[in-house]
Amino acid sequence: MAPAYSLVFFLLSNIVILHSAEEEWGQHPKECSPFDCGKLGKLSFPFSNTTPPICGWYTINCSEAVQKVQLEKSGKWYAVENISQANIVTIRDEVFHKRLKSHDCETFNNLTLPRSPSGPLKITPNLTMYRCDSSLKRFPHTDFRNYKGCNHYNFSIYYSINDSLLLTLPPQCSIIQLPKNPYPIHTDLFSLLAADISLEVFVHPDCHRCHFKKGGHCHNNTKGEFQCHHPTRGIDMEIDTNICRQVSNNYIKILCFIFIIFPSLQLLIL
Ligand SMILES: *[C@@H]1O[C@H](CO)[C@@H](O)[C@H](O)[C@H]1NC(C)=O
Ligand SMILES: *[C@@H]1O[C@H](CO)[C@@H](O)[C@H](O)[C@H]1NC(C)=O
Ligand SMILES: *[C@@H]1O[C@H](CO)[C@@H](O)[C@H](O)[C@H]1NC(C)=O
Ligand SMILES: *[C@@H]1O[C@H](CO)[C@@H](O)[C@H](O)[C@H]1NC(C)=O
Ligand SMILES: *[C@@H]1O[C@H](CO)[C@@H](O)[C@H](O)[C@H]1NC(C)=O
Ligand SMILES: *[C@@H]1O[C@H](CO)[C@@H](O)[C@H](O)[C@H]1NC(C)=O
Ligand SMILES: *[C@@H]1O[C@H](CO)[C@@H](O)[C@H](O)[C@H]1NC(C)=O
Repeated sequence: MAPAYSLVFFLLSNIVILHSAEEEWGQHPKECSPFDCGKLGKLSFPFSNTTPPICGWYTINCSEAVQKVQLEKSGKWYAVENISQANIVTIRDEVFHKRLKSHDCETFNNLTLPRSPSGPLKITPNLTMYRCDSSLKRFPHTDFRNYKGCNHYNFSIYYSINDSLLLTLPPQCSIIQLPKNPYPIHTDLFSLLAADISLEVFVHPDCHRCHFKKGGHCHNNTKGEFQCHHPTRGIDMEIDTNICRQVSNNYIKILCFIFIIFPSLQLLIL
């Protein structure tokens, strides 16, 4: 009996050591402390105030009268209206703003937005519209409104104030999603759209852990996979291979370590 007990004890103490070692790696990287950014308040990952943005994915220039953000490497700088706790950054794109104000038909194109290492930036909230070729005789959904102001461009816009997402579309139509005005006063199409663009930056939990718990930098490698890079410890590949960590229940997590991680460690030792 005794050897079995000590084996279990040995296994359990290893788990505790594994677990605490991982937590004690501390906070965000030292050089990446939260920074003050004027009216935007204190910011941190995924935003960075240095170029190149080693501490985040997006560089913010806080020293201008109106703070600016760069959403991709050597990309355009946008004026920032605000950044919410939920990582929703509201920007002003002067081109889009002018087009919307002048009811320009160029408004009805998808915005080209960069991808973050955790996936695409999401326009939130957005209005879904259907841009259909003027050759379309009848839109199949009668409860949709039709904006005909772009007929001279050979297209027409169909939309619903309920913002319905259609599953099937006529082949002449394609979907476009643009910033939605959360508090429209009128129900005409241009009042339903917002001139400022609110973008949700999704930070994958693995990246969040990498930055705030392990003090590393989360980046994508050339294969487009996450990588947690620690300034002194180097690359920690654990981030995408350790399935045990993704389990939230602690009991199952322990079992997972015993049956998956530990046998593989033993294989290495033997
Ligand atoms: C931030 O803006 C200031 C003022 O326009 C400029 O001098 C500085 O070079 C900018 N910094 C970066 C990192 O672009
Ligand atoms: C951010 O700015 C937008 C546009 O000015 C505004 O509608 C929104 O309420 C602001 N959000 C916060 C959290 O201040
Ligand atoms: C529009 O909003 C929906 C629902 O939140 C989201 O799934 C979609 O990705 C958004 N579209 C764009 C272009 O961001
Ligand atoms: C929008 O909502 C109203 C009331 O809730 C409903 O009568 C109407 O059919 C809806 N339209 C669409 C296109 O879903
Ligand atoms: C619209 O279609 C007509 C006829 O097919 C064509 O002559 C015209 O150039 C088109 N206009 C635009 C803006 O594409
Ligand atoms: C806009 O983007 C959506 C989703 O990415 C795509 O399916 C659609 O064809 C695009 N619409 C236009 C008009 O380019
Ligand atoms: C980075 O990697 C993640 C996870 O592997 C993936 O979902 C994301 O699309 C990648 N981003 C880019 C810009 O390649």
